[in-house]
Amino acid sequence: MSLLEDNQSTDLEKMVGLSRRGFISAGALCGAAMFMGGNLLSRSVLAASVSAGTSKLLGFDSIPAATNDAISLPPGYKSSVLISWGQPLHKDGPAFDPSGNGTAQQQEVQFGDNNDGMSLFEFPGEHDRALMAINNEYTNYRYLYPHGGMPQSADEVHKALACEGVSVIEVQRKNGQWHFVQGSRYNRRIHGNAPISLSGPAAGHALVKTSADPQGKTVLGTFQNCANGKTPWGTYLTCEENFTDCFGSTNAEQTFDAAQKRYGVVATSKEINWHPHDPRFDMAKNPNELNRHGWVVEIDPFDPQSTPVKRTALGRFKHENAALAETADGHAVVYMGDDERGEFIYKFVSRDKINHKSPKANRDLLDHGTLYVARFDAGDGNADHPKGKGEWIELSHGKNGIDASSGFADQAEVLIHARLAASVVKATRMDRPEWIVVSPNDGQVYCTLTNNAKRGEDGQPVGGPNPREKNVYGQILRWRTDRDDHGAKTFSWDLFVVAGNPGVHAGSPKGGSTNITPQNMFNSPDGLGFDKAGRLWILTDGDSSNAGDFAGMGNNQMLCADPVTGEIRRFMVGPIGCEVTGISFSPDQKTLFVGIQHPGENGGSTFPEHLPNGKPRSSVMAISREDGGIVGA
Ligand code: FEO
Ligand code: CA
Ligand code: CA
Repeated sequence: MSLLEDNQSTDLEKMVGLSRRGFISAGALCGAAMFMGGNLLSRSVLAASVSAGTSKLLGFDSIPAATNDAISLPPGYKSSVLISWGQPLHKDGPAFDPSGNGTAQQQEVQFGDNNDGMSLFEFPGEHDRALMAINNEYTNYRYLYPHGGMPQSADEVHKALACEGVSVIEVQRKNGQWHFVQGSRYNRRIHGNAPISLSGPAAGHALVKTSADPQGKTVLGTFQNCANGKTPWGTYLTCEENFTDCFGSTNAEQTFDAAQKRYGVVATSKEINWHPHDPRFDMAKNPNELNRHGWVVEIDPFDPQSTPVKRTALGRFKHENAALAETADGHAVVYMGDDERGEFIYKFVSRDKINHKSPKANRDLLDHGTLYVARFDAGDGNADHPKGKGEWIELSHGKNGIDASSGFADQAEVLIHARLAASVVKATRMDRPEWIVVSPNDGQVYCTLTNNAKRGEDGQPVGGPNPREKNVYGQILRWRTDRDDHGAKTFSWDLFVVAGNPGVHAGSPKGGSTNITPQNMFNSPDGLGFDKAGRLWILTDGDSSNAGDFAGMGNNQMLCADPVTGEIRRFMVGPIGCEVTGISFSPDQKTLFVGIQHPGENGGSTFPEHLPNGKPRSSVMAISREDGGIVGA
């Protein structure tokens, strides 16, 4: 079916970009942007687009989909590279070696690979200087090693671990442009072999003790660091996601217990294959090492000597991000998603109140508190805009059937096996919860449910906030806590948008909700971010084949929504094979930082340098207006 085929729109409407649904965006054909080149500093040369939407919050015209190897932006916007994979963090540091022959030790002092979630921390009283903590989620063997395949030695595993974790960098603004400050004393890597403390109820438990760490309190490394959080007391939270994929077993016949299976461990390891070369990841030798990962890790970016801390009170699962809020009576709330088909949404509420006067007083705030999991009702079943009610169920030992009779000896086990505890209380199995953000305007909470091709199978009912069978497009869930108090145990929910392809499928369910049009359609919403004015930025990690169910959607992209009117406009399209993930803003909102992860995941890209036979490099981009105005306004 053709890109713009839309059985319910007239030809005239299609010509001018008018939609039957009342939302109006780019009028240019999607092909118009497909042949633009990209540069380190690229200026948008998009065909004029038409926008006559109703939102006063969105001050730019929606752009067409694109399939070229560049950043596409609305007219009047520009982008530049802040930092790329392999850039040396220190003066005289080892340069990026595109041959793949660089060593693990060199990678440990270079910017990590596949940047994901990030937060910006302003120096007090300084407007042109800040620190950025940036996750490095994984590495792509295709580009990491000269042979382009699985690691073949302990040294190669070491190099892969050196690519992951977190990079902390200083950034400064000069002449309106933000730059990475090489050589800053704050620049550091916290990689897959760095010492990290384990704290909270599961620290020191038998299930986290290993021969290398008989106390169960010091872990080597954080890896598979997906998205992030920023606390009101000035620390960074990095979230460990697909950690089980890093483990395997040299005993091909090894059987795994129910908890290990639930977290997805298999003997062959999923694509990562560290266990044949590093016994730490061999379940036949070190089964408890698995339990030391899958946590939220807290980092003080302003203290380069500080040891990061894994906060076990927040539960262990495939963490996406950590969204901070505060209860009406001053306790910290952390909303978190577990990104796996049919897994859950959680929230943590701290036992103690946030001390806003003394940031250091909150040092151990995340070590004590209560973990909850979300249960949603079936809702009203409205096909376009379903809504309903939900509640938070406490995951505490001795409550709600979580005790020895259901397999939990103590609270540490509840946290280490949070997925199993959440199943005991019959939490709602979701369509892969990814990022969660809290609106600065009204406190409503938004969560991307990226997709779930297995919805309708495997005991996952179709309905409520997961309304589509074999859901390949995803949706964005929203909830409003009762009394507008993040401490409330109950809430109302609705679906802010149901993604779909109205160019291929007429109407719901696969054409998407009414705020999806042939001009703004996308699939697999993943990253989310609010700016200070309350614009909701939506980043995608989906199918970029531009064919079949995804025809006309082009490369992965970033859109911007007006949460009140529901209007969504496409703001940026990324290069070939990338995922758009990680978002942050300069304090004055005049620069938007966004991550381009794994350009050329399967080849076909040389972004961002476009050198002949060059390698693509994941990069953080700085996007701003040529007139120096606020991004998105
Ligand atoms: Fe790292 Fe669920 O994305
Ligand atoms: Ca993600
Ligand atoms: Ca994703």
